[in-house]
Amino acid sequence: MKKLITILLAVLICQSSFAQKKIWDETEEEKANRLEWWQHDRFGMFIHWGTYALAGRHEWVKKRERIPDNEYQKYFDNFNPDLFNPSEWARMAKMAGMKYAVITSKHHEGFTLFDSKFTDYKATNTPYGKDALKEWVDAFRAEGLKIGFYYSLIDWHHPEYTIDRVHPQSATSQDEYDELNKDRDMGVYRDYLKKQVHEILTNYGKIDILWLDYSFPGKFGKGRDDWGAVELMKMVRELQPEIIVNDRADLKEYAGGWDFTTPEQFKVSEWPTYEGQKIPWETCQTFSGSWGYYRDEHTWKDTKQLLVLLIESVSKGGNLLLNVGPTGRGTIDYRAKNSLSSMGEWMKYNSRSIYGCTEAPDSFQPPDHSLLTYNPTLNRIYIHLLDYPLQNFTLKGYKGKIKYAQFLHDASEIRISAPRGHWGRDELSENDLNLSLPVNKPPVEIPVIELILEDF
Ligand code: GLC
Repeated sequence: MKKLITILLAVLICQSSFAQKKIWDETEEEKANRLEWWQHDRFGMFIHWGTYALAGRHEWVKKRERIPDNEYQKYFDNFNPDLFNPSEWARMAKMAGMKYAVITSKHHEGFTLFDSKFTDYKATNTPYGKDALKEWVDAFRAEGLKIGFYYSLIDWHHPEYTIDRVHPQSATSQDEYDELNKDRDMGVYRDYLKKQVHEILTNYGKIDILWLDYSFPGKFGKGRDDWGAVELMKMVRELQPEIIVNDRADLKEYAGGWDFTTPEQFKVSEWPTYEGQKIPWETCQTFSGSWGYYRDEHTWKDTKQLLVLLIESVSKGGNLLLNVGPTGRGTIDYRAKNSLSSMGEWMKYNSRSIYGCTEAPDSFQPPDHSLLTYNPTLNRIYIHLLDYPLQNFTLKGYKGKIKYAQFLHDASEIRISAPRGHWGRDELSENDLNLSLPVNKPPVEIPVIELILEDF
């Protein structure tokens, strides 16, 4: 019996040490502090920009159309964004209310916007001739925006990167893969990717976010060992101890292997969890159906949809990273520009319901057709009216919890008063409150009611 217990204990200890694989020693509190600015700021700009902008039909064009290197070369040879003015981009982001930005230093096609020592396939060797990443960093920093680098783990150009199921030259059988990969050495690529990540994390000052993309373990796929992800992440943490990293390097079980999760083009139904704990998260979304510039794609979301994406993310404790795909000339498409400016118009008056806000406590349930956010520091609840109600607006279970109510955009009082007429009064239970709203919807895409709460 004693023996059995000893064995069981040994197995348990062994298992828990597996569960605690560590890349980075940090307490929960230290991690919370490191992520504080990011969870406060809530709204960032994603930028997908590379040679695919010239094709103008999705950043996956090389894979989708199975374009070989020699044919794809024309996009490199003609890369010359003569109108690239990153200060203009930065101002657009800032005006929209975005506080940070993440740009593709390298996307899957393998082209680097930065001047890497380890490849010729870089912006400095195109007709453009300059380190576009450097210019971008300087401009965005100058506008006070935090800086993030996306770096593609996948590489469709490097000659040693082994062909896999997402590669433009993907095959269908093991034999075909063996044949295709017989002269390729993933170890060489692994070393290359580490050196490039080293470059972007040492040559551009303090980097606030690293966005690695992505792992697809399984048959003809790639995961942490292919990338050398454990060693890579150790290096990242050493080089930039304050950096915030996404979760796509296949290091979910490693402490320090990731900081936040990244639901892509997906609206979560509730705050995402891992092992039963709510985790930091950010949804990345496009204005239309592509990350890279896509001239003929027409599924552009309207302003209300975009604002709902932002508000709904915050209402579930998350961030929104909203993508632009600049053109081959270096400009931001007019449709994205218009949307950014409409969002900015809303943010100008309503950002108090976004910055520093999170999910509301359970004791506050969202009224019909609305989304709630909550600022724990100010102790205020924000009700976002997605469908403007007709005069009487019932807050179920809010009685005794509210000091004052106003519209956020103009600080005009909203009176807390019983509904007129007995029909409304009959419906109101003793724990409910009624707000008397003006008949006409205020001239705001999504009006916000700010509730100043009693201490609780
Ligand atoms: C996917 C796609 C990619 C895009 C990214 C953004 O991983 O491969 O094109 O960069 O999502 O989240």
